[in-house]
Amino acid sequence: MRSIVDITDLSKEEIQELIDTALDMIEHPAKYARACEGKKLATLFFEPSTRTRMSFEAAMYELGGHVLTMSDPATSSVSKGETVGDTVRVVSNYADIIAMRHPKEGAAYAAIRKSTVPVINAGDGGHCHPTQTTADLLTIYREKGRFDGLTVGMCGDLKNGRTVHSLVNALARYDNVKFVFISPEELRMPRYVIENALASGNAVCEEVSSLEDNIGKLDILYMTRIQRERFDSPEEYERLKDSYVLDARKMALAKPDCRVLHPLPRVNEISVEVDDDPRAVYFEQTRNGKYMRMALMLKLLEEARKDPAKWETHSPAAAKDLKCRNPRCICAFENGIEHVFTEDPKNPGHFLCAYCETPAE
Ligand code: NCD
Repeated sequence: MRSIVDITDLSKEEIQELIDTALDMIEHPAKYARACEGKKLATLFFEPSTRTRMSFEAAMYELGGHVLTMSDPATSSVSKGETVGDTVRVVSNYADIIAMRHPKEGAAYAAIRKSTVPVINAGDGGHCHPTQTTADLLTIYREKGRFDGLTVGMCGDLKNGRTVHSLVNALARYDNVKFVFISPEELRMPRYVIENALASGNAVCEEVSSLEDNIGKLDILYMTRIQRERFDSPEEYERLKDSYVLDARKMALAKPDCRVLHPLPRVNEISVEVDDDPRAVYFEQTRNGKYMRMALMLKLLEEARKDPAKWETHSPAAAKDLKCRNPRCICAFENGIEHVFTEDPKNPGHFLCAYCETPAE
């Protein structure tokens, strides 16, 4: 039985398998209408969501299954101080699969360690968002027919935006992908994401601050929102919130076959006039997300049926003397979490927090 913290929990071959299943679901929906009959999905969203939660729920309904939802933590036992681990342990008794979103980094792994059913990370703080990446990948595949050799620009809040972290992890595994990271100095892509991409040996990364100067070389432009909720200082957010606005004038500088993606919600980083540009595919992207979530749930439930044994993402080492130094990690907020670490594959002898991947001290 397998759970998903990030997109790299799926191999490239498995991603292609999910894409092929999703394309078949689009062509032949009736074939899948009872594929999850009798199965229950629980959606545990400790943080706001429209698309991700509803697309998971729509996906399960389209597979013939049922949905249990905890959309508002304020009306659940979480408001009484229940931990993620306890909540998930309880919900495992009611549902066959869980999709969970949480504001703290590493919360997905905390849940997985306690769950007896597959858990899918629907976003853990600024860390990862693998199912958004599956939506992004299907969109790119349908538009471009390939991942190899693409020049992919990511623009906006690359520091706090979890979708871009997972998308880099996914695309770095293909050949000759060139990343152009477009952000203000303060919102640069985290070093660990860039290092992971470079460690793949296939990717090239460039960090720039001007959208205008770089848009013309992109095959894909992935716009993101400045993540207000992850700023410690409201003044800093006010200063940076309008860093980039994609409008018709800037689109005139883009290639005729460039495609614009955005995980949504948008605030003002894409002006509405771009919506009618045939190169804008962000609304199709939301639809693609539903099919990829259908394909993923079907796969994980099938695997759980064949092999119900519990799954470990990492082989963590409990280390008494190490400490996670990420103040936004779930470890810093919940009592009773066992602090576990994994050896950094790129830096032997050094350890990463198994929950949020921050180097330990
Ligand atoms: C994203 C998220 O939640 O990280 N939204 C989504 O799931 N489609 C992007 C965002 O909130 O900016």
